Amino acid sequence: MESLYKAFEKDFYIGASVTPELIQTQGDFIAKQFKSITAENQMKFEALQPKRGQFEFEVADQMVDFARTHGMKMRGHTLVWHQQTPKWVFTKANGACVGREELLETMKTHITQVMTHFKQAVYCWDVLNEAICDGPGYLRPSQWLKGIGEDYIDKAFCYAREADEKALLFYNDYNAVTPEKRDKIYQMVKGLIERGVPIDGIGIQGHWNINWPSYEQVKVAIEQYASLGLKLQITELDLSLYDGEEGDLGFKVPPEERLEKQAQCYERFFKLFKAYKEVITGVTFWGVADDYTWLDYFPVRYRKNWPFVFDQQYQAKLAYEKLINLSKN
Ligand code: XIL
Repeated sequence: MESLYKAFEKDFYIGASVTPELIQTQGDFIAKQFKSITAENQMKFEALQPKRGQFEFEVADQMVDFARTHGMKMRGHTLVWHQQTPKWVFTKANGACVGREELLETMKTHITQVMTHFKQAVYCWDVLNEAICDGPGYLRPSQWLKGIGEDYIDKAFCYAREADEKALLFYNDYNAVTPEKRDKIYQMVKGLIERGVPIDGIGIQGHWNINWPSYEQVKVAIEQYASLGLKLQITELDLSLYDGEEGDLGFKVPPEERLEKQAQCYERFFKLFKAYKEVITGVTFWGVADDYTWLDYFPVRYRKNWPFVFDQQYQAKLAYEKLINLSKN
């Protein structure tokens, strides 16, 4: 099977999120098909600093070693997020909320220690993840926002630049192509740029499905974000076989018709990504192959999903064939 990343080498880095288990069992496949990896969970706050001041880098270091050994790029995910962040960050032992100064100090220490540790190994960091509201409202009322105030965002990016002046600093979010949220993300990032806060790019997560979003929505979002003069990456691509509204339909195997639709979607979106290759520097799948995906547990627990271009046996799906053909045009 031809290498997917080599097929798109002239366009952007093709990446995948991986786990230590996947590296162990599918390392050769991953190294052959992808140019970049992201740790699915192992570089999140709770993994790297479960207790105050107690940094645990061992597992993530092994992932970095794998990337280095195979000449792959490593994306860092993620420094500041409202999820997978330990309780101690926001709450004191007596249950009281941590105050602004202490929370800022915690954020600074975490960013500084982590980015310093992974300097040169990680070329690009999701400094801030999912800080914008989906519905009404602007900034997500996270404990970071409540504890520090709106400037927590500026601070996060400034601390990041101080810690590693070379790493690319990204803002990363889902639903980033839906018009309402897109405009809010655009405004937030525009504000950062106007205030001189260091930011290099926007990550469009890309947790999509075979009916959503439309080609047009993705195109408009790419253009709007690109107008800020930043780089873009698709950071967490998976195309669910289920529409947002559907529950568990009990499929034992993926229905042909849905796989065809999925393949068409992959083809259309990659065509678009290629058309914007000057601004899109990476396209990372949120997983490797259909044997394992977080979508088997989310948003419906134990509903099997098949969101990738490689099947459960690590064989090419129709989507893969279409992408390889497209890469040759
Ligand atoms: C998910 C992982 O895939 C799961 O294993 C974990 O249980 C929860 O987090 N947006 C992100 C990712 O930025 O970090 C999330 O990853 C998926 C949604």
